[in-house]
Amino acid sequence: MSERDRGPGAPPITHHSSLITRLPVVVGISGASGAALARAAILALGRAGHPVVATCSPAGARVWREEMDEGFERFAEGAGKQLSLEVIDIGDIGASIASGRRRTAGMLVAPCSMDTLSAIAHGRSTNLLERAADVTLKEGRRLVLIPRESPLSPIHLENMLKLSQIGVRIVLPVPAFYRKPASLDEVIEDVAARAIGALGIHLEEEEER
Ligand SMILES: Cc1cc2nc3c(=O)[nH]c(=O)nc-3n(C[C@H](O)[C@H](O)[C@H](O)COP(=O)(O)O)c2cc1C
Repeated sequence: MSERDRGPGAPPITHHSSLITRLPVVVGISGASGAALARAAILALGRAGHPVVATCSPAGARVWREEMDEGFERFAEGAGKQLSLEVIDIGDIGASIASGRRRTAGMLVAPCSMDTLSAIAHGRSTNLLERAADVTLKEGRRLVLIPRESPLSPIHLENMLKLSQIGVRIVLPVPAFYRKPASLDEVIEDVAARAIGALGIHLEEEEER
């Protein structure tokens, strides 16, 4: 049907992919080493047009400060000008992502501390990150964790097994040695892409389309 046939006042038909609204990916940043993984994941998702809603624990912010050239807040401020990035205070347990009504494309916790991993495995919801992960599970959405600790204790391994058995995807921040990565950045990009892939978002395929 043409615009004219639809009658006066009818909204224009727009044949454009921007009409397909993407659901946001929740990114939780906790206090394990590897802040660069969160940075890489947020930037990769954002550049590919996936909105991101992020929340960072106090320990996550501290590790970010120690490992990166700028603090998390400064990064988010800069990134938010170029990407669709919403940052929510981890203390705001009444925020949208604390409810199943806010539809999301799933959640990534990167890096995931053993503390946060344990909280998720035991259904604790004492901050927004933990609550959002709990909501992701109860709504049957994809939850991907990038845990970092070494060596791992039996408690860590048990918690990971428990989560894996209920469908949580565990992506380790380890190099793909067989690809002979030339730099740490390459390893970080690769791990972030794998974690995003575990969410069911395949950035390379999207690029080809
Ligand atoms: C510099 C630094 C590095 C840390 N690295 C790790 C780590 O790799 N894995 C981990 O489980 N905890 C690590 N921790 C400890 C966590 O930050 C700590 O257990 C904290 O309570 C985690 O809180 P959160 O899960 O709420 O972010 C680190 C702490 C600091 C200060």
